[in-house]
Amino acid sequence: MRWVWPLPALAAWAAAWGLFIGLQRAEAGALPAFGLAALLGIVLSVLGSTRWRRLFIAVGFPFSLAASGLAGTLPAWAWLMPLALLLLLYPLNAWRDAPLFPTPQGALRGLHALVPLPDGARIVDAGCGLGDGLLELRREYPRARLLGLEWSWPLRLACAWRCRFATLRRADIWAEDWSGADLVYLFQRPESMARALAKARRELRPGAWLASLEFAVPGTSPDARLEAVPGKPVWLYRAARH
Ligand SMILES: C[S@@+](CC[C@H](N)C(=O)[O-])C[C@H]1O[C@@H](n2cnc3c(N)ncnc32)[C@H](O)[C@@H]1O
Repeated sequence: MRWVWPLPALAAWAAAWGLFIGLQRAEAGALPAFGLAALLGIVLSVLGSTRWRRLFIAVGFPFSLAASGLAGTLPAWAWLMPLALLLLLYPLNAWRDAPLFPTPQGALRGLHALVPLPDGARIVDAGCGLGDGLLELRREYPRARLLGLEWSWPLRLACAWRCRFATLRRADIWAEDWSGADLVYLFQRPESMARALAKARRELRPGAWLASLEFAVPGTSPDARLEAVPGKPVWLYRAARH
């Protein structure tokens, strides 16, 4: 189900305000109530479908609190807390490579028929976010060994909680060695694709695969293509067999 904008923002702000008021009533103290409510707003910012919408959701609670005049007891530095939390969730290099857009449900349906892999095959979701890609990969390859790499540690933690079947590591996908993988799955940015294919060609074993949701490698013909969800193609590149 997709919510029409600005419903996600209104729901996120209402939830943050609800938590803030509830914690104040429970006499939790203004600062912890502010910190937890701001954190909730930031976590719920994933409901925004664009970078600006996510930012808008994340800053909504602190801004509206400042405007409400109810924040008199907070020290000045407390206002930096939401910014620090936001940077934890979306470290700058991860923003540059790809913000948090999850793989849509069903987008990888049928992948196992195009790319059959043996039991115990190693699959890497490079930049696994909240784990939606891993959940799709698990449905396609229930007996594979799944590894998620994620730079943002709060996302890595949330992903570990959702995807207990996978191994999760906080890592930079560009610094990691991909050579052990039978399939590397990416949902990054158009600008990253040439770099991803160059890395895959250097490191992947002959016959292993690189799969990219939505973004193709410019100027390179894919070995296969899947479009299970309209407008969300998966581009498949196979490392050359010698
Ligand atoms: C578009 S999301 C895709 C999430 C997940 N793969 C999915 O399809 O549901 C991209 C993710 O890559 C992460 N990311 C971006 N650059 C990264 C890097 N250099 N190393 C590790 N993770 C990175 C971001 O934090 C974000 O969670």
